[in-house]
Amino acid sequence: MEPNNQVPFLVRVLSLFPEMFPGPLGYSLAGKALNDGVWALETVDIRAFARDKHRSVDDTPFGGGPGMVMRADVIDAAIRASGLAGEGGPLIYLTPRGRVLDQALARRLAGEGGMTILCGRFEGVDERVLECHAPLEVSIGDVVLSGGEPAAMVLIDAVVRLLPGVMGCRESLEEESFERGLLEYPHYTRPRDWMGRAVPEVLLSGHHEQVAVWRQAQAEAVTRERRQDLWARYIAAGMKQKVSDDEHH
Ligand code: ADE
Repeated sequence: MEPNNQVPFLVRVLSLFPEMFPGPLGYSLAGKALNDGVWALETVDIRAFARDKHRSVDDTPFGGGPGMVMRADVIDAAIRASGLAGEGGPLIYLTPRGRVLDQALARRLAGEGGMTILCGRFEGVDERVLECHAPLEVSIGDVVLSGGEPAAMVLIDAVVRLLPGVMGCRESLEEESFERGLLEYPHYTRPRDWMGRAVPEVLLSGHHEQVAVWRQAQAEAVTRERRQDLWARYIAAGMKQKVSDDEHH
């Protein structure tokens, strides 16, 4: 790779388990980009901002109920020490209550200079610190994890691979799932025959146009079968496009 003079996309992670990072992000595409200085990682140990002699970061919820809540004063001190949100990208709080992560949000975040990610544990953080710092609340899906750290890894991975220079081949980005509002068509490689299963004939034909038509049809079929929600949006977007094309003729 040619020397990299770009300012790295700075990811700051506030966590009670900073040693979890970079973890899986140290490997493969994200790991290479980290080594190449395309992005940089700064972890902040939330526990370092505990004030009392027991270094407590959480307490029982007012009003009773199960679990523990992360203290507003401790989280606030960690956020302030790591540079306030707005400097070097948004402050993001990972929570199942957040806006569900999708490719459009990953793209938007990749266009920033960086991001600061707050990882919750236990039942979450005191609501007042959210009111005070107004983070962008993001969920990775309608499922409950034991903490924000694995969700942060998912978010960081999705964003880092979109940074300039990380993915080798631009087409493979444009072709992949969600970028065009469809799931991806199926892929095949050698051997041509495997366990009595042949590769679809059209892919061996060398007719690029026929291959493209086949792949488009496959992408539409798999999306229609598996994802009613994506399919409905795709159809609606296509109709809108058609109306505006007709208006211009
Ligand atoms: N923390 C726990 N569950 C989560 C989820 N689904 N998304 C983001 N953060 C979480």
